[in-house]
Amino acid sequence: MSEITKVTIIGASGHLGQYIVKALLSYPKLATQILTHTDSNSTFPANVPIIRADFSSIDSLKSALRGQDAIISAVGIRGVSDQINVIDAAVAVGVRRFIPSEFGNHPASDDKRLPEMRATQTEKIKVMNHLKKKAEENEGFSWTAIAVGNFFDWSIKRFPAFGFNLASKEARIYDSGSEPITGVLIDSIGQAVVGTFLNPRATANKFLRIRSLQTTQNEILATLEKITECKWTVERVSTEELYQAGKEKKEKGGGWILDILCTQIFADGGGRSVVATREDSDNGLVGVEEVELEDVIRGIVAEG
Ligand SMILES: NC(=O)c1ccc[n+]([C@@H]2O[C@H](COP(=O)([O-])OP(=O)(O)OC[C@H]3O[C@@H](n4cnc5c(N)ncnc54)[C@H](OP(=O)(O)O)[C@@H]3O)[C@@H](O)[C@H]2O)c1
Repeated sequence: MSEITKVTIIGASGHLGQYIVKALLSYPKLATQILTHTDSNSTFPANVPIIRADFSSIDSLKSALRGQDAIISAVGIRGVSDQINVIDAAVAVGVRRFIPSEFGNHPASDDKRLPEMRATQTEKIKVMNHLKKKAEENEGFSWTAIAVGNFFDWSIKRFPAFGFNLASKEARIYDSGSEPITGVLIDSIGQAVVGTFLNPRATANKFLRIRSLQTTQNEILATLEKITECKWTVERVSTEELYQAGKEKKEKGGGWILDILCTQIFADGGGRSVVATREDSDNGLVGVEEVELEDVIRGIVAEG
């Protein structure tokens, strides 16, 4: 398989996309362009070519993608089904690799997912099935998907339901707090994407699993208390009650997702949150390194 050098990213301005853009730009060998909707109001870095297309038109997408080697998609949940047209246009103009906007759990753990959360994956599963079919039908076309578990540093800083409020020094600990979870640093997802493009043969048609570390809520709390040199206020939450509350909210029509998502991630004995053991991970294939919890927490606390 020849080298990948021309790369298009869609979803570039998103929570994740902006980090992937940063990683792509740090490898000058990869010539990167951003593809966005004709009517997108997103803002993008000044030093990257921006191409606009009508995502409902295969011809418009073909014009945008002609000459490209690969596409990385980091679209948010409302843009997931748009990827079908992008894939079809990509295949039609000879793009060779597509990385879909997965970046969650690995399908091997699907049967452990709570049914309410599994139902939120329907569109992503359709996209994966479409990709696999296109790769089977077109010899020069392949895909790579990347399972990452939790966005670890991002979740601690930006996702209060993950359990840690740095400003108020309050923790929300689910069940015993000892359920193992793996997480990935958001910069390392960018590295995994770059590593995929630099190693196209070994990553073809694979659902990779990457991780930066494995820990528990209790270990995170103990490390935060050590580094901030004070005891945090701890709220204990039963995931049995949380799951029940989430299901009731869902029946009434909304506001349930965080209750059920946190049950899925943290419930004692759920076994749903380890994407891979260190030995089973694909870190080596794409150049992702494991990190120490204390180093990560020290960095997060220092950022303030
Ligand atoms: N594992 C985890 O902990 C975790 C956490 C968060 C997200 N994720 C996953 O990471 C991926 C990216 O999520 P994100 O939170 O970064 O996404 P996001 O910020 O919500 O959106 C990313 C981009 O999607 C495009 N987009 C948004 N709304 C759209 C619409 N209605 N139609 C078409 N495109 C639209 C926009 O692209 P333009 O830039 O072109 O305007 C936007 O910048 C998703 O697969 C998500 O499930 C995983």
